[in-house]
Amino acid sequence: MTACRICQTPLEPFMTFGKMPIANGFLSKEEFAGEYFFELAPALCAKCKMVQIIEQPDPDRMFHDHYPFFTSSSHYMTLHFKKFAEQILQDNLSQSADPFVVELGCNDGVLLQNFANRGIRHLGIEPSANVAAAANKKGVRTVTDFFNEGLAKKIVAEDGQADAIMAANVMCHIPDLASVAQGVGRLLKNDGVFIFEDPYLGDIVEKTSYDQIYDEHVFLFCGLSVSNAFSPYGLQLIDVIPQVTHGGSMRYVLAPTGSRQAKPSVELLLERERQQGLDRPETFKKFRENCEKSRRDLLAVLNDLRQKGKRVVGYGATSKSTTVINYCGITPEHIEFISDTTPDKQGKFTPGGHIPVKPYADFKNTYPDYALLFAWNHQVEIMEKEGEFSASGGKWINFVPKVEISK
Ligand code: TMP
Ligand code: ZN
Repeated sequence: MTACRICQTPLEPFMTFGKMPIANGFLSKEEFAGEYFFELAPALCAKCKMVQIIEQPDPDRMFHDHYPFFTSSSHYMTLHFKKFAEQILQDNLSQSADPFVVELGCNDGVLLQNFANRGIRHLGIEPSANVAAAANKKGVRTVTDFFNEGLAKKIVAEDGQADAIMAANVMCHIPDLASVAQGVGRLLKNDGVFIFEDPYLGDIVEKTSYDQIYDEHVFLFCGLSVSNAFSPYGLQLIDVIPQVTHGGSMRYVLAPTGSRQAKPSVELLLERERQQGLDRPETFKKFRENCEKSRRDLLAVLNDLRQKGKRVVGYGATSKSTTVINYCGITPEHIEFISDTTPDKQGKFTPGGHIPVKPYADFKNTYPDYALLFAWNHQVEIMEKEGEFSASGGKWINFVPKVEISK
């Protein structure tokens, strides 16, 4: 892929993170030899301003029947989606006698369960069979499939058009955005809304949170690029609402063009993005330099601790950590293991870096000297429950927005 996925303009990467494995490809020792790698290199489209990775693995390698990511494993995310549902109920569904909502990439049903519980007609679409099964088990009506115009037609025939279509941390995963936009256009009522949220490019640039860049995140959205990408399909950006999730996300609200007036928040955001330079190559040159500094600083800390014979473990075997581990060259010599609460990851090794993933009890029962906080996007939740680690003298290594050690 050398042309923009949105407007076909030729792309030049502004940096490369080098060869990367599948971010969620936790593996056993026997699988090391056959591990798949691709080059992770992001680019800014000069025309439509979409930031995207150039090469992407085949989706079947990433989303399959043993995809190890369950959103409900985070208590804060569960709360976040409850509030998201309540907002939609209040703002978008109160006028409709028999509303119908659809979620693209519904994961384990963490958002839709709030509609299912209220007896609201709903449908989840989830390509990973194991998480879709978890959703169905909760009473969330879910089909295992990828969303496109064909599926949209089928849903309209069976359930009618939707009042709201939602997606959380999903749109940025879909390389063929056009097919989704066409499907949304077909499935959405004329007075309906399409609401999605994803990690926000403005935060990524500001905080040097380069770990948001990995195989699944084919796009790093901002207001400018979202507006450009959807307007050719008759969808207009009418509101934007910043979110604290995933270290800084943006919720985008779109509606059929001309059906509603855009809120002032949209123009305000676009102006702020122009000021931040999200539409200019110089910004990404600086971003690359910031990534290189972050890598140097983190390795310096880890090498120093290794020399001093300190025990260091990782906290949270996140998808994002795959970029950090492989870009920085972090090895099991630096980090003994990574503690993670997801049973599917435990007993396996991290992609590329092959650091063992162990159950949380391994952290809790024998505290290390230092914990490298890979799950920094859950920092508030984690700090709340790990007071004892700090009290015992344990220290945290953070790398966003800069590398530092804290108590
Ligand atoms: P995420 O950053 O992509 O949401 O993934 C979070 C990962 O971190 C997931 O594998 C679960 C793990 N985790 C813990 O091990 N302990 C925690 O307290 C939290 C919040 C997450
Ligand atoms: Zn483009």
